[in-house]
Amino acid sequence: MKRVDDFRLRLGKHELVPIMIGGMGVDISSADLAVEVARLGGVGHISDAMIKTVSDRRYQTKFVKQKLALYKYNVENEDKSPVKFDLGKLIEATRLHVEAAMSRKSGDGMIFINCMEKLTMNAPKETLKVRMEAAMDAGIEGITLAAGLHLGSFALIEDHPRFRDVQLGIIVSSVRALQLFLKKSSRTGRLPDYIVVEGPLAGGHLGFGMDWAQYDLATIVAEVLHYLKSEHLDIPVIPAGGIFTGSDATAFLESGAAAVQVATRFTVSEECGLPDNVKQEYFKASEEDIEVNQISPTGYPMRMIKASPGIGAGIRPNCEAYGYLLDANGKCAYVSSYNREVAAHPEARKVSVMDKTCLCTHMRNFDIWTCGQLTYRLKDTTRRMEDGSYRLLSAEHIFKDYQFSTEQKIALPE
Ligand SMILES: Cc1cc2nc3c(=O)[nH]c(=O)nc-3n(C[C@H](O)[C@H](O)[C@H](O)COP(=O)(O)O)c2cc1C
Repeated sequence: MKRVDDFRLRLGKHELVPIMIGGMGVDISSADLAVEVARLGGVGHISDAMIKTVSDRRYQTKFVKQKLALYKYNVENEDKSPVKFDLGKLIEATRLHVEAAMSRKSGDGMIFINCMEKLTMNAPKETLKVRMEAAMDAGIEGITLAAGLHLGSFALIEDHPRFRDVQLGIIVSSVRALQLFLKKSSRTGRLPDYIVVEGPLAGGHLGFGMDWAQYDLATIVAEVLHYLKSEHLDIPVIPAGGIFTGSDATAFLESGAAAVQVATRFTVSEECGLPDNVKQEYFKASEEDIEVNQISPTGYPMRMIKASPGIGAGIRPNCEAYGYLLDANGKCAYVSSYNREVAAHPEARKVSVMDKTCLCTHMRNFDIWTCGQLTYRLKDTTRRMEDGSYRLLSAEHIFKDYQFSTEQKIALPE
């Protein structure tokens, strides 16, 4: 009987354990987690979501305070278009985060960064370009293009000296999205080095509509493999979303996938960036506690635990301090929803906003508990302590469970 360890993922000169831990913003897939996964021979991801906040927390910078001070005059203003990112500071924050992770790396694995296109930052092209270039300058080994079609992303960095040396991957949820990406990127004369196919059970934002439940990862992966074969393209395909056991992973590897991308099982690892009390919420969640909703201002459906404190919280938008979701015209759907509620309830000291959420503030504060559909099975992956809480797991334990387990078994900690 085969297991994940019987397979290897080849990326460039690297031969890897075919387990990739998906990027989880904001700093949920921490550098600690990525470094550990690389040590174990797989691929770890850091994320550049809200990189200035991450840098302030981890590297004692004051980027957020400085930005807020600069734009404080605009806090009461409904028009957020004047709030811009200082590209130099964005570069500095990215460099700090990437360098810190890369300097600690050991082992045969690799460390990539997850870059979401939907972080449009009031200047989509300019900010994405410097984010990717700064990560390459700081030694990142791969960039996974996420949350968006990325039709122009390769072109943004084609003049960078590392454009052909760094591993570049794209996340898609359909053959159609892949075809569009390949068509638009062909002008740069460069194919992606890997393709993550993310199905409807994943955590974070979904590349599906609210009819997500009608789709099935294995079917989409088969379609992508078939399409690549028909085009004579030899690009590693990496399924993601709901791959919970080593046996689930092995089944994909046996049917032609080059590796798997997993995330949910690692949300309860010691190395994961979520606070410990939130990790307990992930353990406790039952299937009925998890929903896919449309409160993300990005326009993509997002999966989360229903009890997330950020749902419905009508806080004043914090674009002057954050502003990661402001589009090219300085607009964010939450700002509009918030202003609508304030106008409708002029006497209220506090409003509730149900249709959208201030994702920047709540992700920063770990108050939106985004998660994969199979989060409700996490409680079966550990032991319960005397006080009723669940024991956190080491990333090594979870990684090796994926790598070596068979027959749908999940190894409990000693
Ligand atoms: C807490 C959490 C946060 C996530 N954040 C991101 C993100 O910032 N960018 C992204 O591309 N994918 C994100 N994802 C998706 C994962 O990278 C991954 O592809 C997916 O969750 C894999 O499915 P699984 O969680 O069932 O293993 C997130 C997933 C989780 C669980």
